[in-house]
Amino acid sequence: MSTLLVKNARSLGESVDLLVVDGKVRTLNASIEAPADAEVVDAAGKILFPSLIDVHTHLREPGYEWKENVATGLAAAAHGGFGGIMCMANTDPVNDDAAVTKQILEAARRAWPDGPRVYPIGAATVGLKGEELARMSELKDAGCVAISNDGRPVGNTEIFRRMMEYAADLGLIVIDHCEDPYLAAKSHMNEGVTSGLLGVKGQPDVAETIQAARSILLAEYLDVPVHIAHVSAKRTVDIIAWGKSRGVKVTAETTPHYLTLDETAVNGYNTLAKVNPPLRTPADIAALREAVKTGVIDMFCTDHAPHAAHEKETPFDEAPNGFTGMDLALTITYGLVREGVLTEADLIRLWATEPARVFNLPVNTFQPGAPADFFLFDPDLEWKVAPDTLYSKSHNTPWLGQLVRGRVVAHWIGGVKIV
Ligand code: DOR
Ligand code: ZN
Repeated sequence: MSTLLVKNARSLGESVDLLVVDGKVRTLNASIEAPADAEVVDAAGKILFPSLIDVHTHLREPGYEWKENVATGLAAAAHGGFGGIMCMANTDPVNDDAAVTKQILEAARRAWPDGPRVYPIGAATVGLKGEELARMSELKDAGCVAISNDGRPVGNTEIFRRMMEYAADLGLIVIDHCEDPYLAAKSHMNEGVTSGLLGVKGQPDVAETIQAARSILLAEYLDVPVHIAHVSAKRTVDIIAWGKSRGVKVTAETTPHYLTLDETAVNGYNTLAKVNPPLRTPADIAALREAVKTGVIDMFCTDHAPHAAHEKETPFDEAPNGFTGMDLALTITYGLVREGVLTEADLIRLWATEPARVFNLPVNTFQPGAPADFFLFDPDLEWKVAPDTLYSKSHNTPWLGQLVRGRVVAHWIGGVKIV
């Protein structure tokens, strides 16, 4: 029997105490008397959050371990406040086979049995090639919690339709990386004023919206769910709102970077700001902020996409897409609370309860008996984003070198302290 009492934490503007017994929440109350055997933690000045869920990460194992591995990805997750992470299938070999799913889960168990939980996402097609459907039922049996084409958008609408039908039959949601491969071919940033000035081939925002519209129309026609990955554009928000207004089972996610950075971040051919979908415009940022507030976009994710320094230190056109995200996710989105765009309750909804509801994963609701997955966040702690302050193996974030505010200072999973 282990008893933990967290005292004087802040939750939704109130001072609270949290009592944890044997890895489960016992009570959350304004004031709890310490039981005789309790370990007491003073959390004055810290915000109490349920552990977050990241529905879109790239852990790179197997195959790309110089960028990240399961152990370093879990360290970044733990220090970012994530108690559960879903990892994408674009590994090498691709996670299109139960053996790969089992390998990832085994790597997580070996790396950190008490650490954040890993939920693999299976590839929709063999090798992510968009030609032949993967054996989804075996992927599900091995532990995959969703199906995705992430990183390799599917051009063939007939294949996409069959993908949605098969996944839905198994009760798995398709997470669609929406990008028309022809419109987006050979692009390296958003198509617009900045791409014109830089002389870089751009990707029009409609490349995303057209595929999102396709998914939503098919979801309606087939009466199956679909989840739109990393929404970057206002037009896509509008098409999702349209789908929702028709009762389509469409859900969507966006990331901290699409809410805070625009296309000018790539000025100077800054490869650290190169990501896919690309950073868009201030009007897109405004629409995305409104959409996460109103629920048109259901949840946040990081799209944590680690790449080694030498891979980003190349000419702009040759650099890989992606940012690491888990270390900084709450730091950046807490900034939106400071700006008055979101509330702490919105953060909990977008980072924890909606991801858990849509993907059917455990989450801490702070109700008696809930898993004691929680962390303390110091909103005033200032820190510099640098290789030695990030836990991910890679440091490819556009915030590299900047001073930021707010950090996870302690984290428990199932009542066990992991940070
Ligand atoms: O920027 C991105 N990076 N977008 C993706 O879709 C894939 C990801 C990666 O795996 O690096
Ligand atoms: Zn993607």
